[in-house]
Amino acid sequence: MLLEEGFQVTSVDASDKMLKYALKERWERRKEEPFDRWVIEEANWLTLEKDLEKPGDGFDAVICLGNSFAHLPDFKGDQSDHKLALRNIASMVRPGGVLVIDHRNYDHILATGCAPPGKNIYYKSDLTKDITTSVLLVNNKAHMVTLDYTVQVPPTEAGADPELSKFRLSYYPHRLEAFTALLKGAFQGKCQHSVLGDFQPYTPGQAHVPCYFIHVVKKTG
Ligand SMILES: C[S@@+](CC[C@H](N)C(=O)[O-])C[C@H]1O[C@@H](n2cnc3c(N)ncnc32)[C@H](O)[C@@H]1O
Repeated sequence: MLLEEGFQVTSVDASDKMLKYALKERWERRKEEPFDRWVIEEANWLTLEKDLEKPGDGFDAVICLGNSFAHLPDFKGDQSDHKLALRNIASMVRPGGVLVIDHRNYDHILATGCAPPGKNIYYKSDLTKDITTSVLLVNNKAHMVTLDYTVQVPPTEAGADPELSKFRLSYYPHRLEAFTALLKGAFQGKCQHSVLGDFQPYTPGQAHVPCYFIHVVKKTG
């Protein structure tokens, strides 16, 4: 979408399997100028400064959406990897630029044992048949949330039966307040921070329970 709007985009992922989709898309649309200029790199958030060359003072915006950051486990049990990755990500933002990063509403998932009802902003919700939630506690603290998805795959050929696809993904359950504190730490407090719920203005305690929290952090220093 950013490329279609004419932005200069650099995309990174640690998975070469995932990058293949982006590389294929770039190749297929190479006649469109922004796609021809699209930079696609293999880079890990934990080693981002080594893996990716920062342009000048940094990027105008760094965008990490789709509950991606929650894929990074807490390997050592002290969130040091989360802190390192967020420091690296914050270092890529130029002064005056923004970081836009989201996570599922794990406060709700941990309180109720299931994902909030309502339309999921990232999925064709009508295709998702079921999400089963499991929570792993370590020393009585939520350490991992596993979501088992059952998704109806539309038939590829006329007359074929629709198929059910089942897959499992595990996440670190970032809570709103704790993740806000991690973000402010990553910017050493030199930032303006705000939160959206499902990309709408969010007020704590509001009636509508968002599926996702989107943090917008402007680097001020
Ligand atoms: C929800 S998918 C998003 C895929 C795609 N990058 C996008 O933005 O549409 C989350 C992605 O995070 C990537 N990821 C997980 N841990 C990572 C890390 N430490 N560094 C970079 N990418 C990572 C995974 O490989 C996965 O493709």
